[in-house]
Amino acid sequence: MKERVIVMTILVYENLDLLYDDVKDHLIDQIKRHQTFNLGLATGSTSEPLYERLIDAHDTHKVDFSHVSTFNLDEYVGLEASHHASYVYFMQEKLFKHISFKTSHMPSGLGNLVENVNFYNQLLSKNPIDLQILGIGSNGHIAFNEPGTPVDSLTHIVNLTDQTIFDNSRFFESVDHVPAKAITMGLANIMAAKKIILIATGKNKAQAIYKMVKEAQTTNMPASVLTTYENITVYLDQEAASLLD
Ligand code: F6R
Repeated sequence: MKERVIVMTILVYENLDLLYDDVKDHLIDQIKRHQTFNLGLATGSTSEPLYERLIDAHDTHKVDFSHVSTFNLDEYVGLEASHHASYVYFMQEKLFKHISFKTSHMPSGLGNLVENVNFYNQLLSKNPIDLQILGIGSNGHIAFNEPGTPVDSLTHIVNLTDQTIFDNSRFFESVDHVPAKAITMGLANIMAAKKIILIATGKNKAQAIYKMVKEAQTTNMPASVLTTYENITVYLDQEAASLLD
């Protein structure tokens, strides 16, 4: 079998605070180097400590974000912006109400979905992402690109897998309240970013990280596409890295 050459940089941290401080420093360094900057953002538990640090940097160190435009990865279909589990609500609460960016964009899961998909793809093709922040699902999804998503996919509507619905039910009253569909950037949109940072913490990510790094690239493990992308740094805590050598 042909050996796979992995080009990604993987950093493993004993200390979670240090991990997030380093991601924050890396990100702010990039933001300061550019006169305009397109930042791709993720929602979810993994991103929260990073957003807390960005708010702190903004408030205490007066880091300027006014030249930064943000582009989120995904959103549930059918949740109003006022729903506490919608991604637009999450972003508003965790970041946007604390920091004024130049503009902030999120795909919309309301109204005409075909138009929303086309609109987001056009937006992304006109505004290449300078740095994309990613988490990873326990089934290896990145954004909501579930297992089986083609590598050349653009923004699309996706049927969420039972695993993702179960994992994300912690944000809802019950598993039955989790929307069955979402709108997500595709893998090709993500791979078009100039740089990627992927963060994974906790035991429930260990299997996905192992498969991403150690097993053959396959659409069954969407994150494995990232192993062919050169400009990525993967930040892991020891639990997420626990199945690696
Ligand atoms: C969310 C997203 C997802 C999450 C992933 C991990 O915008 O793109 O891929 O990054 O599901 O979620 P958490 O961080 O909640 O474990």
